[in-house]
Amino acid sequence: MSMTYPFSKRINHFVPPKQWASMRVAKELEKNSGKKVIHFEKGDYQGPDFETPDHILEATIKALKDGYVRYDPGPGLPELREAIAEEVTKRGRPTTADEVIVTAGAKQSLNMALLTFLEDGDEVIFPNPGYPPDEVWAKYARANIKHTPLTKPDWQFDVEKLEKMITPKTKLLIINTPQRPNGHLVENPEEIAELCLKHKQLMVISDEIFSHIVYDGKQHKSIAALPGMAERTIVIDTFSKTYAMTGWRIGWSVAPKPVIEKLSIFLQDTITNVAAFIQKAAYAAITGPQEWTVKKTQLLQKKRDRMITGLNSIPGIKADTPSGAFYAFPDITGTGLTSQEFTNRLIETVGVAVVAGTAFGDQGEGYVRVTYAVSDDDIDEGIRRIKQANLKA
Ligand SMILES: Cc1ncc(COP(=O)(O)O)c(C=O)c1O
Repeated sequence: MSMTYPFSKRINHFVPPKQWASMRVAKELEKNSGKKVIHFEKGDYQGPDFETPDHILEATIKALKDGYVRYDPGPGLPELREAIAEEVTKRGRPTTADEVIVTAGAKQSLNMALLTFLEDGDEVIFPNPGYPPDEVWAKYARANIKHTPLTKPDWQFDVEKLEKMITPKTKLLIINTPQRPNGHLVENPEEIAELCLKHKQLMVISDEIFSHIVYDGKQHKSIAALPGMAERTIVIDTFSKTYAMTGWRIGWSVAPKPVIEKLSIFLQDTITNVAAFIQKAAYAAITGPQEWTVKKTQLLQKKRDRMITGLNSIPGIKADTPSGAFYAFPDITGTGLTSQEFTNRLIETVGVAVVAGTAFGDQGEGYVRVTYAVSDDDIDEGIRRIKQANLKA
């Protein structure tokens, strides 16, 4: 074959996602060796503790039987938009249904928002560590990416540093709380909001995908609920994490009506609409009994504690206790290994997959991301195996 494909230069930066490198290696190892790998690397739920609730499955089957199988061009089923608007209103940002768009997951919400606002030479500020897929689209739009380093050890925005980065060309600031990859809540949205309000052109994308996975009685705070922020914030959330619906691919954005109108055209000209029967499933999820989500969060809190205690029993590893999401982000500098060396060592020698912190930005050096949305047995077995690994540099 001699064809040289005339790819667009805009995709020169397309490479297999770094944060999925461990998953690829783990899969290969399992296939070739037949050995069970402990999967702490996935950004997903695993095992029977986290099946999508039955009432959601039943609503999906009913929707299919009721004929929700046709195109449904538009920003989403009216009843679902209404229910999402109610949920966001409860977060403190009064919202109407015409300020909601239903998307194929938060990832699509992020993609559409970035491509709708950014163009050549615009600046966008991402936290470091952060969520790398966002940057792919900022680069595609030829925007200049700036990183604001979150302060260690509790991974907070340093507002003074942030202020120095903002110029008249800065259009977007990305905030993610509870944060991935480290699980901490952003503690100072008020200060960040105050800063944003000083810059007329600056919009915020508030990625709130772990909004319902917050522990120890703490509260998720949306920056969009603060005075003056609703009109300049795009709130993004998903059914993936709240209702264990990661594979269903459904999420949403909330933004002022003129923004939703543009996003709606984007949606119609790309995927037309999220499958209507999936939207009915999401409707059942958001309007149905919420105890399942509450219980799941309580269960995750126990798993968090199990994982953190386990990690802290391993020489060279120091794990703090995050208040949300389902990741631990332990400091592994005590081993003398780099994040990547540590990651490679675990998968190659004891069959435990984690993600190198550097997959989320250079501030992640010295850390690895460990998912605890797995069975207790896997947590215990993973910790036992890590203890057996030779973690010397
Ligand atoms: C910070 C962050 N934003 C967005 C997403 C995408 O979520 P969704 O499954 O709704 O596309 C993820 C997925 O893990 C994430 O971690």
